[in-house]
Amino acid sequence: MARPAHTAVEIRGLAKQFGDVKAVAGIDFDVREGEVFGFLGPNGAGKTTTINMLTGLARPDSGRIRYFGSDYTADVKKAQGLMGIVPDESNLWPELDGFGNLAFCGALYGIGRRERDRRATELLDTFGLGDAANRKFGGYSKGMKRKLAIAAGIIHRPRILFLDEPTTGIDVASARQIRQLLGGLNESGTTVFMTTHYIEEAERLCDRIAFIVEGRLVRVDTLPDLVKDVEGKYIVQLALSRDPGPLMEELTAAFAGVEFEAMPGGTLRAHTVQPLPLGPLVRFFEHHGVDVTEAKAIRPSLEDVFVRITGIAADRMRKEKEQGRPKGGGE
Ligand SMILES: Nc1ncnc2c1ncn2[C@@H]1O[C@H](COP(=O)(O)OP(=O)(O)OP(=O)(O)O)[C@@H](O)[C@H]1O
Ligand SMILES: [Mg+2]
Repeated sequence: MARPAHTAVEIRGLAKQFGDVKAVAGIDFDVREGEVFGFLGPNGAGKTTTINMLTGLARPDSGRIRYFGSDYTADVKKAQGLMGIVPDESNLWPELDGFGNLAFCGALYGIGRRERDRRATELLDTFGLGDAANRKFGGYSKGMKRKLAIAAGIIHRPRILFLDEPTTGIDVASARQIRQLLGGLNESGTTVFMTTHYIEEAERLCDRIAFIVEGRLVRVDTLPDLVKDVEGKYIVQLALSRDPGPLMEELTAAFAGVEFEAMPGGTLRAHTVQPLPLGPLVRFFEHHGVDVTEAKAIRPSLEDVFVRITGIAADRMRKEKEQGRPKGGGE
């Protein structure tokens, strides 16, 4: 049966279990050609397991995978010419220099010598690694390593690029550069599938986002549609001269129907379904000797959506990552 040209990957009933752990519990979704598709979820949600099955690095227990209309379930590795892979940990050779790594990857994809040398030089320039071309990969910083891994992933001009947490654990400047590079790559026609812990990153880069929690997809949608869900709620953020913590109970009693959230640094958020008159709120604080130094309306963020849909506090995801829990291995 002819498939519409706009589906890059079609996934049906994909599942994988490790012992008793259902790492991926039967998921269905499509990645459309030309989009940036974000896979967002906390530690152990099944992101890496999914990406590994999609790229032929792990064998699914069940399910079907089609790439650009053809079924590759029986041997996903056969689709590897169509895809670029940037794993969460570097897969390059520490003893080779930057140029050598790219040229070698080009050779693995069967690119002729002249073309792969030309392409390696071009990519080193694009990724700002020209000066490091002749230095050993093993001595690169984390950010440089990640950039070279991405360059290696696209040396054969894949139609779809898979990245597992492309900006986790690297410096802010490199992370920003990587986001820009991915945006540019996508604009020039490459479909991008990426996993991330960072809600802000998904928000900035992705056309559609899938939330995965405990091996299940809880939602796949475009950003505007996700945000629409929590719109119709009003959020007002106040900056206060003192921590509102001790006043919370009294505050809640005084303003029925308003949900208050105390945040660090004397910040308070008020959530309501009706627009909130600020006068009474400001007077309440003045009465208790607290100054309101700023008040602003907050648009619901993807973070609010994530919390609402999954019930998982977004800062938990961030903390888990920052604590650097070891990956995989049933930890
Ligand atoms: N090789 C393995 N052997 C045993 N269990 C595994 C293996 N790989 C993953 N798991 C388990 O499967 C579940 C999903 O893991 P996975 O690595 O896919 O999560 P993740 O979403 O990528 O998490 P992280 O954000 O930490 O990278 C976890 O419970 C993990 O411990
Ligand atoms: Mg992972």
